[in-house]
Amino acid sequence: MSGALRSRVIGCGSYLPQRVVSNDELAKTVDTSDEWIIERTGIRQRHIAADEQKTSDLATEAAKAALAHAGVDVSEVGLIVVATATPDDTFPAVATQVQRKLGITHGAAFDVQAVCSGFIYALTVADAMVRAGQAKVALVIGAETFSRILDWEDRTTCVLFGDGAGAVVLRAEEASNIHTDHGVLASRLHSDGRYRDMLYVDGGPSSTRTTGFLRMKGREVFRHAVENLASVVGEVLDEAGFEPKDIDWVVPHQANRRILESTAKKLGLSMDRVVMTVDRHANTSAASVPLALDAAVKDGRIKSGDLLMLEAMGGGFTWGGALVRWG
Ligand code: UT7
Repeated sequence: MSGALRSRVIGCGSYLPQRVVSNDELAKTVDTSDEWIIERTGIRQRHIAADEQKTSDLATEAAKAALAHAGVDVSEVGLIVVATATPDDTFPAVATQVQRKLGITHGAAFDVQAVCSGFIYALTVADAMVRAGQAKVALVIGAETFSRILDWEDRTTCVLFGDGAGAVVLRAEEASNIHTDHGVLASRLHSDGRYRDMLYVDGGPSSTRTTGFLRMKGREVFRHAVENLASVVGEVLDEAGFEPKDIDWVVPHQANRRILESTAKKLGLSMDRVVMTVDRHANTSAASVPLALDAAVKDGRIKSGDLLMLEAMGGGFTWGGALVRWG
């Protein structure tokens, strides 16, 4: 290939652990209710990984499903990027263990850590590497076992999250015209470390030598999320030369139904253009965007040629958006 390259997104897949935990089940152990959780978040249930299931197991299942959907053999994969904040171990990277479980011994595999924005970060990094000629086919995975870092006695956080994994397959193609090409058309990443204390884990290898638990000032995070997401979506559209009305589907990070609604309103988009899975999956951090994407592709809502806006915001703070022409 000689000219500029584009990363076409040629398949997706996902995996959810078998065990489903309802709001009512949580209300037996913490002072909460199905009504409160649904009204404030839209969440009805979440999937929780079995004790023996690690993040790399969830990631590998999602990767296999995405490769099958794309019709790509593992031997073609030259790059694996996993977005996760809940790795199996402090090191090695989850991506290397996905590589091992898929039986791949060539190419590169590494993790990206941007918490709930992780998938947008991983997609942007993988897209840049594919366009730079580092790999022809890349697996981009978001995978989390947030159940392992939740304080199950803290009702303000434990009801919000779930476990799962989602993946996409990228393939290098000649770029032609941004208005007609399929694939990753533009993306933008942001971070601002001043907001560390709004959303963090109170432990880690270099601070406490423990894993720690997630802590969040939910109301502040909510406020910043709506502002930052609406603004980054605008930036990505400007960069690519599109307008909000051109978007067929917004595939957002699934933290809270009210964040999805407020962001859509700010952008002047109707909610029937927004993919929502937070009711079934809760917040699965880096897995939520590819899980939502896979749900809407597999149920037939997202079709080849549709213009998708993927967006997310998370701890750090980090946030970002990516514009993708599907299929
Ligand atoms: O993925 C990364 C990004 N994360 C997010 O985007 C999360 C953003 N934040 C949110 O989604 C919302 O702020 C929450 C769902 C976390 C909280 O909703 P809220 O409407 O902002 O509620 P609040 O924190 O202001 O709390 C309202 C009340 C409090 O009681 P008081 O102080 O008013 O008496 C809480 O103690 O609700 C209480 N509360 C609960 N009650 C029943 C908090 N958690 C619960 C609960 N069950 N699980």
